[in-house]
Amino acid sequence: MTHPLIAPSMLASDFARLGEEVRDVVSAGADWIHLDVMDGHFVPNITFGPDVIKAMRPHTDKVFDVHLMISPVEPYLEAFAKAGADIITVQAEATDHLDRCLQVIRGLGKKAGVALNPATPESTVAYVLDKVDLLLAMTVNPGFGGQAFIRDVLPKIERLRAMIGGRPIRLEVDGGVNAETGALCARAGADVLVAGSAVFKGGIEGYRANISAIRQACAGRAAA
Ligand code: DX5
Ligand code: ZN
Repeated sequence: MTHPLIAPSMLASDFARLGEEVRDVVSAGADWIHLDVMDGHFVPNITFGPDVIKAMRPHTDKVFDVHLMISPVEPYLEAFAKAGADIITVQAEATDHLDRCLQVIRGLGKKAGVALNPATPESTVAYVLDKVDLLLAMTVNPGFGGQAFIRDVLPKIERLRAMIGGRPIRLEVDGGVNAETGALCARAGADVLVAGSAVFKGGIEGYRANISAIRQACAGRAAA
């Protein structure tokens, strides 16, 4: 059993107080900050772009894990790099030129990730494994927070973990992650858990308890 990193998704935070929410969730124990960029085209929802990420950047030194659910994606990679992303993840389904995208991201000095929708097979990333730093298995169909975890993805997480082998690649899951489903993902081989609605409730004390409950479930103990 791994001890996964917890990456709260700012999608579930109070957008009117983004800077404060970043600081609060970091002091509550977040390892990374997950930032969901949606364009109303690749996914049926619109969130925020590079300028909003740039505005959040001074509020923490934690890794900014930027999940781009946009198509086209190539024209915007540089803007997200300049905005302060540390990891830039593109959806495999959003580009015909996945290999080139990954090379561009690394060329910008950032870590490169690929996200796979629930119905996208792991074979999609078989030939880019030496060009990625992170693989993201979506456990909901992207577009909205608060959706139910899709258990059918669990065997794919196991297969991705096997494909990664000894490579230095993080395996992240995103969507419907709470203490129970997060522990299932960790058991399947995930080492980064994105959680939005399961973390951002109850104010800063709630955030702390919610993050701790996920960690404890992954460690195989009952939540406090
Ligand atoms: C879904 C986003 C997720 C989302 C997760 O399209 O990529 O990061 O914020 O939210 P929860 O944890 O509420 O499912
Ligand atoms: Zn996400």
